[in-house]
Amino acid sequence: MILVTGATGKVGGQAVAQFLGAGAAVRALARDPASARLPEGAEVVRGDLADPGSLDAALDGVDSVFLVWPTLAADHAAPATIERITEHARRVVYLSARGTSDAPGQDPNSILGSHALIEGLIERSGAEWTFLRPGGFAANTLMWAAQIRESGVVRWVHGAATRPLIHERDIAAAGVSVLTGTGHAEARYVLTGPEALTQVEQVTAIGEVIGRPTRWEELAPEIALRELLDQGWPSAAAEGIIDGHARLAATPESTTSTVEELTGAPATPFRRWVADHADDFR
Ligand SMILES: NC(=O)c1ccc[n+]([C@@H]2O[C@H](COP(=O)([O-])OP(=O)(O)OC[C@H]3O[C@@H](n4cnc5c(N)ncnc54)[C@H](OP(=O)(O)O)[C@@H]3O)[C@@H](O)[C@H]2O)c1
Repeated sequence: MILVTGATGKVGGQAVAQFLGAGAAVRALARDPASARLPEGAEVVRGDLADPGSLDAALDGVDSVFLVWPTLAADHAAPATIERITEHARRVVYLSARGTSDAPGQDPNSILGSHALIEGLIERSGAEWTFLRPGGFAANTLMWAAQIRESGVVRWVHGAATRPLIHERDIAAAGVSVLTGTGHAEARYVLTGPEALTQVEQVTAIGEVIGRPTRWEELAPEIALRELLDQGWPSAAAEGIIDGHARLAATPESTTSTVEELTGAPATPFRRWVADHADDFR
């Protein structure tokens, strides 16, 4: 039995579908099973990662966990929750992030610091672990969907920031390959899409795929930061996002071939991801 957390989200939802497709028995964690829309065949169980005591039913009889962690939001409960999970599960595949450091010292209030915290707890738990460390998700561009639908003009920061964005389906496929295979203990896999594009090129690609003109408008970093804070991002995380974009403009993120090595299929191009989500932008 494989437990998938974050099962109602982007990567977890794909993981549930793909584990079922691979013939695995899948249990999906959701804080509100009544509203969770999951593929037929998945057993949906209530649980909250911020409340370790709520997880017993979800963990009963579980051998492996595909762990998506609500970064920062449940970190206060992380030691007890990871202990609870690894009392039951023999193997954990954790959805971490590229840039997470193996050395201590990352700011625990930052996104990468949160991933470092969870990785450390899993490493010390005694469970067999594998960390998936994807770079930027193609789905991050959905933050521009309303602007593209309304005007076609994307106002955001550091248009030169360059990343090989990855399809959520490829991240899930890597996790499925790891958990249904062997030989992945203590591996940290950096996962990316197949081609690095600037944010300006990403906006152009979205326009070309949906058949509507799109245009980039550069926003000053301090204005973008204010927008993130207004959306409720904690300041360390918001500053980390803006600074991260500045670094990606100066030093483009490299591609890896890990998706293909793990799954046997090349990583999905960004334009294909846009086609899969075209209705969100139209
Ligand atoms: N975006 C990027 O570029 C990027 C890059 C690398 C890594 N990551 C990491 O990817 C992860 C997010 O994955 P995603 O985008 O697939 O998620 P998502 O679509 O944002 O969905 C979030 C999921 O987390 C669940 N969740 C939230 N709070 C929870 C709680 N207290 N207990 C149990 N479940 C909870 C939600 O489930 P319910 O609300 O239904 O309970 C939902 O299924 C984060 O850890 C992020 O740091 C992101």
